[in-house]
Amino acid sequence: MFVNNGCQHCHTIRGQGGEKGPDLSGVGRTLNKTQIRTQITQGGRQMPSFGEILKVSEVDDLVAYLHSCRDKKSK
Ligand code: HEC
Repeated sequence: MFVNNGCQHCHTIRGQGGEKGPDLSGVGRTLNKTQIRTQITQGGRQMPSFGEILKVSEVDDLVAYLHSCRDKKSK
């Protein structure tokens, strides 16, 4: 899911992916589900919005997945 939608083009998760955006391996520790959902559907300063690209169920899956990513920062 994360890989297919191009998120990994900019984001590293668990050691794999791009570096344009922040590493998301521990994003579940810093953002709540609402914040993660808003970031995906509305985008951010340098992140495109995915609200019109992804189905609601796909956003739900991503939010659940990212919220479960609670690794300690590796660097
Ligand atoms: C074109 C590059 C790019 C793509 C593609 C991208 N992002 Fe981002 N993302 C960013 C950048 C840059 C930020 C940093 C904050 C900002 O610009 O809003 C960010 C921030 C985030 C954050 C908040 C992280 C934090 O710690 O505050 C989340 C969550 C996130 N992205 C999830 C996703 C998901 C899920 C996808 C795929 C559907 C995705 N991103 C695709 C560039 C991208």
